[in-house]
Amino acid sequence: MNPDAVKLIERLKDTGTLSPEEWVFLISGEDDELASFAAEGALKIRRQYFGNKVYVRGLIEFSNCCRNDCYYCGIRRSNKNAQRYRLNEEDILSCCREGYELGFRTFVLQSGEDPYFTDDKICRIVDRIKKAHPDCALTLSIGEKSRASYQAYFDAGAERYLLRHETADPVHYSLLHPAELSSENRKRCLYDLKDIGYQTGAGFMVGSPYQSAEQLAEDMIFLSELKPQMVGIGPFIPHKDTPFCDKPQGSLKQTLFMLSLIRLMLPDVLLPATTALGTIHPKGRELGILSGANVVMPNLSPVAVRKKYELYDNKICTGEESAECRTCLDKRIESIGYEIVTDRGDHPDFGR
Ligand code: SAM
Ligand code: FES
Repeated sequence: MNPDAVKLIERLKDTGTLSPEEWVFLISGEDDELASFAAEGALKIRRQYFGNKVYVRGLIEFSNCCRNDCYYCGIRRSNKNAQRYRLNEEDILSCCREGYELGFRTFVLQSGEDPYFTDDKICRIVDRIKKAHPDCALTLSIGEKSRASYQAYFDAGAERYLLRHETADPVHYSLLHPAELSSENRKRCLYDLKDIGYQTGAGFMVGSPYQSAEQLAEDMIFLSELKPQMVGIGPFIPHKDTPFCDKPQGSLKQTLFMLSLIRLMLPDVLLPATTALGTIHPKGRELGILSGANVVMPNLSPVAVRKKYELYDNKICTGEESAECRTCLDKRIESIGYEIVTDRGDHPDFGR
């Protein structure tokens, strides 16, 4: 193992950051031995903060209509083959009811940027879910909004918000998105969300087109500055009806290595082993947990619409009922010596 890379991992643990050049050196020095060393360190820290607990979030994909046209995304507005759907308020509430029965205490409402769901509608849905399930946490993941909108959702009862920054490098950002979207606004949103008081999640795709160690280094530095409570990363996976249909998918090993480095840098962060990771490898989510992740986010959307929220090809768990997904995940997590708990799973700084 390269002794300089080992030293950097030790320093990352102690100081929580590295210089851009050091990040590039560490990220491009990935090999099996170094990855195992990083994972070992990450698991030690993870155990210290969270024991063998894995938190579970019920994901409700309530609309796949989107006004944006991100080049990587299967539900982008230019994809004429996507069959669009919207769940109504009652559908969403019934997903939550079912999730509650199954032991979920966090619901994540995710959608494309769908103008049909005005701020009033979102606030009403948030309010109804919080009244029906006051002991549950509510996370939104509905894209870039004004600060006033974020404040309104927060006042209505939403406590967490997921908005991946996608890439911290503005030039790279412009290669993944049309000109009307900017890295600057995405970052502004994240700082607004944190400032309002949300438990905030940023993140990026590993292996997105045109990404190299330099961009990943910038991502890590951005995370070290923002200090989000949650970080969502997963491999880029091409979708057949997008401009990136022929681009190679992100690597399993690099995603696992980045998970370990994130755990080492942000020891108490909430870090999911994502569905995308489970899509590129049959044991992807288990391997994610064994690299430092501590959250899983199974799908609670009605089976009738699941296939339609296809961000990338071959997405897993689109045919199973919520209860089946829950049982399957429980078993998978148990098989590696961890335990899914019925808990809101707040960030330690927001403990109640
Ligand atoms: N509209 C919201 C937003 O922009 O944050 C939430 C939905 S968006 C589809 C959720 C995440 O899916 C994105 O942040 C992106 O990182 C991820 N994603 C989209 N297309 C993907 C792909 N082809 N491979 C892997 N992840 C993808
Ligand atoms: Fe809007 Fe992907 S382009 S959710």
